[in-house]
Amino acid sequence: MDRAYIINLGPLEDIAIGQGRCFIVKDTEVAVFRLRDGSVAAIENQCPHRKGPLAEGIIDQQFVVCPLHGHKFDLETGQGEGGECVRVFNTWIEHGNIYMQFSPYVFIDGKITAGTNNN
Ligand code: FES
Repeated sequence: MDRAYIINLGPLEDIAIGQGRCFIVKDTEVAVFRLRDGSVAAIENQCPHRKGPLAEGIIDQQFVVCPLHGHKFDLETGQGEGGECVRVFNTWIEHGNIYMQFSPYVFIDGKITAGTNNN
């Protein structure tokens, strides 16, 4: 069984304030955003609609808007419009670096499963 990992994604300054950047973590594209309040957020990069790159979307403090067709996703819950959703990853800043917890498993309806939580 694969384990959960804590990964150092590098210096916070590598991401401009109010912008996102895509990282490849264990074959998963992760969109990491530097929010205007100084915090960071991370979600699966691939939009469930038509695989748009969410790291290139426009963000505010709570949502990212997909750059391809404008679907909106909550950065805290991963919930999108119309029942779509993306995985959310726990992230934090420590000593000027961005850290992320990555697990290949997710909980869906109380059951552990592998992969994404997209329907
Ligand atoms: S690919 Fe994201 S809204 Fe269409």
